[in-house]
Amino acid sequence: MPQLTLPGLIDVHVHLRVPGGEQKETYATGTAAALAGGVTTILDMPNTSPPTTDASRLAAKRALAAAEARCDVGLFAGASTDNVDTVFRLAEEVCALKIYVSTTFGPLRVADWALLEAHISHWPAHKPIVVHAEGPLLPRVLLLGARYGKHIHVAHVALQAEIEAIITARERGAYITCEVTPHHLVLTVDDIRHLGPWGDVRPKLASPADRAALWHHLPAIDCIATDHAPHTIAEKTSANPPPGLPGLETMLPLLLTAVDDGRLELARLIELTSTNPARIFNLPRDPRTSVEVEVGPRYRLPAQGWQTKVDWTPFAGYEVAGRVLRTTLRGTHVYEAGHVLASPGSGRILFGQQVSTSTGRAKRYG
Ligand code: NCD
Ligand code: ZN
Repeated sequence: MPQLTLPGLIDVHVHLRVPGGEQKETYATGTAAALAGGVTTILDMPNTSPPTTDASRLAAKRALAAAEARCDVGLFAGASTDNVDTVFRLAEEVCALKIYVSTTFGPLRVADWALLEAHISHWPAHKPIVVHAEGPLLPRVLLLGARYGKHIHVAHVALQAEIEAIITARERGAYITCEVTPHHLVLTVDDIRHLGPWGDVRPKLASPADRAALWHHLPAIDCIATDHAPHTIAEKTSANPPPGLPGLETMLPLLLTAVDDGRLELARLIELTSTNPARIFNLPRDPRTSVEVEVGPRYRLPAQGWQTKVDWTPFAGYEVAGRVLRTTLRGTHVYEAGHVLASPGSGRILFGQQVSTSTGRAKRYG
């Protein structure tokens, strides 16, 4: 198959680890990985150290992102046990609120149902609430969202029961969008045998039947998002490996392989990775922002040589049929033939006030 040009990808679930996790990833390295993967906008999760839970931490993170990002970045606010009376005031400065209901990496978790309900009721209805709620927790969270008329976006759907719960809740009128990850579409619990800690992620890799259900219900899924969650090789080989996998650079090769195999329409790939993410999170798109890819020639993904600071992938050795040739952001070539051309600070930070211009007016993007 030929070379194709797609709109730049929008990845709505990325962990860039600044501040506090700079050994894993930084804005400079993570956004380089994004551009190498054909991703031109990322939404950055709040489970950093400290987590993004108040105005001063958000402002500090925005400054760090503005200084180093090479692609466009939107920031999440995180729900915590002590910000239920304040976090909703950040709504216009962020892409969405993230609520961790299930246990995972990082300090953020809202396990108390009264507190969860208060967070959901306070957040404005025109902005998404992204929830990490696995298995039997999910239907309860969806009910709360419906009770208050809020837009719930379900992160990384991994189980048949989860996608079925979403479909059922939608049939009852709830406003729900959702995403799946490439790793839950490609891998299963059977891969843990050879992957060991490299395959440990939240939600955990699921059964072949769950994976089949995600493909079967793909028409009900809105976005494919990586949940790029880098941890260093030393951390992953330690006695207590944290869950999470890098994914920004392997998403397009894997999805284009599905296109080449006839399991995914190219038009659907564009909806899942660009059109729908932009609509759901109200993100700007630009016709001059694109990614040129090659589909067809098979090759094996390398173990090393990636832009992500952690420089590993659970897909080492996988045969794929897609490659990113060049990424263009607003008309400027930012990645080409293995080289990241964009400099740190050239990306835009979406939502809220940003860099002052010479006229003293603040520019607003997105
Ligand atoms: C994520 C991380 O490392 O920040 N880990 C993961 O396994 N997905 C946290 C998360 O998104 O659950
Ligand atoms: Zn995540």
